[in-house]
Amino acid sequence: MLRTHTCGTLRIEHINQTVTLCGWVQKSRDLGGMTFVDLRDRYGITQLAFNMDTNADLCLQARKLGREYVVRATGLVKERESKNSQMATGDIEIVVTAFDILNESVTPPFTIEENTDGGDDLRMKYRYLDLRRASVRANLQLRHKVAQQTRTFLDAQDFIEVETPVLIKSTPEGARDFVVPSRMNPGEFYALPQSPQTFKQLLMVSGFDRYYQIVKCFRDEDLRADRQPEFTQIDCEMSFVEQEDILNMFEGLVKHLFKQVKGIEINNLPRMTYADAMKFYGSDKPDTRFDMKFVELNEVVKGKNFPVFDNAELVVGICAKGCADYTRKQLDELTDFVKRPQIGATGLVYARVQADGTIKSSVDKFYDETALKLWVEAFNAQPGDLILLLAGQADKTRKALNELRLEMGTRLGLRDKNKFSCLWVIDFPLLEFNEEENRFFAMHHPFTSPKPEDIELLNDSNKIGHVRANAYDMVINGVEVGGGSVRIFNRDLQARMFEILGFTKEEAQHQFGFLMNAFEYGAPPHAGIAFGFDRLCSLFGGADSIRDFIAFPKNNSGRDVMIDAPSTIDEKQMNELNIKTIL
Ligand code: AMO
Repeated sequence: MLRTHTCGTLRIEHINQTVTLCGWVQKSRDLGGMTFVDLRDRYGITQLAFNMDTNADLCLQARKLGREYVVRATGLVKERESKNSQMATGDIEIVVTAFDILNESVTPPFTIEENTDGGDDLRMKYRYLDLRRASVRANLQLRHKVAQQTRTFLDAQDFIEVETPVLIKSTPEGARDFVVPSRMNPGEFYALPQSPQTFKQLLMVSGFDRYYQIVKCFRDEDLRADRQPEFTQIDCEMSFVEQEDILNMFEGLVKHLFKQVKGIEINNLPRMTYADAMKFYGSDKPDTRFDMKFVELNEVVKGKNFPVFDNAELVVGICAKGCADYTRKQLDELTDFVKRPQIGATGLVYARVQADGTIKSSVDKFYDETALKLWVEAFNAQPGDLILLLAGQADKTRKALNELRLEMGTRLGLRDKNKFSCLWVIDFPLLEFNEEENRFFAMHHPFTSPKPEDIELLNDSNKIGHVRANAYDMVINGVEVGGGSVRIFNRDLQARMFEILGFTKEEAQHQFGFLMNAFEYGAPPHAGIAFGFDRLCSLFGGADSIRDFIAFPKNNSGRDVMIDAPSTIDEKQMNELNIKTIL
């Protein structure tokens, strides 16, 4: 070893020991008689002291050290005259007796400190330097801990980790595939897996019983703060189980992770049906850190000659506690917020319950005090509260009100990152109708089992959209952190499912014949789930973006700006791959 200790370990009890440290120069201060250098490594920062009176040569050399030089220093641990309680090693310093420069550094493009002067793009380009910053490093250490604890828990439950292939076959369902041309098979392509779904099901047919894998998945979809083109799943599958067993097992995993990683005890997870989640929160991933549930008002508001409400399929609202004193300007801001094209509401109606109990609304022309009292009752609103209503087509209005609810939650400080609210959303619909393509798509994926009691409805074209699935999502603080389902394990039901999804028999056989054939060789009942590992880490770390928890992430255009990928390839490579040059 080139060093005896790290830059984070030395304390008062090490006084008078001779030690050797290695690290990067964070900064140096020349005070005339003394020069101080902050030496940094993964574990912390230690102050090196050079004394002009006792060792002028060394001191002069130290003055020449630039930022980020790599240095090895030997010296005596001494108690500091002026201690720094902000630093773990702030009680001591090393009075240096010998040191070498192991490597020099050009001036870094941004300061490698907590409050760096580097913008996002610059830090992404020099990600290896950004990773030297303590907070970014801490995110990756947290990621490591979540992975370790996941393995500890699942291993203790007899799960075994099996790797599945990365070069697989493209399938038409789900997001877009990333594809890889095959040199040896001209004109043919592999696809990178969107998830190991079919392989883990085949492992169940093979009798593996309890499988998991911390695995890279690839999806060519539009990127957002919680989506990357390559991301990691904790992918799991179990045989001879029912939905209840999966919910209990993986509730156990999440409780274990909260306890071990965050030191937090989580209560049993409440369960909410998809139908209730949509009705009361307008979202299948409700943020339940705060209440503000939707209240539907059709019965109460219709028939008063207010055309916006009379013509609406749904009038629905929320009650914001203590917001009756919102100014005109604040209410206009909220109206502009819901009218933004991404949200799409046509307007916002409000009613203030004033301190004296009287009610002032934006539609006083149509609703007198008696009529408005009914609104207040429906919301159980109190003096000081503000009622906010949206109206229109039911699904769209619920979606818009979900955005408004989240916005109000944020404004009222109800979305505390240190508070965690977890739940299961269950009983998802099996299918979702796509107007553009005029056909049903699987809401989760085509291998999800309908609820046994709803299977009959699959034969009734009017009711097919009402079939519920044995599918579940885990939601934490409004983020879908995991999703899974009980699987179909019967060849005929799987074939029927492909038929409903618009596959011909030949297409189904061509795309998924390997799975349906496997089902003929004694497939056990099985079910599983996959967690978004990056999302879990960013939740634990209290961050909005999963990027901060990925060592080398892509930017919003799917580019790695550090290595400059994707990039063109040369003509020889193109020819070998039988790809014609794109002009
Ligand atoms: P699903 O598609 O719901 O299910 O994915 C499981 C979880 O993966 C995370 N996730 C993502 N995270 C980051 N970036 C992305 N682009 C991204 N896409 C998904 C989410 C999500 O809940 N095979 C099934 C699982 C199963 O049925 O067992 C599957 O992949 O947190």
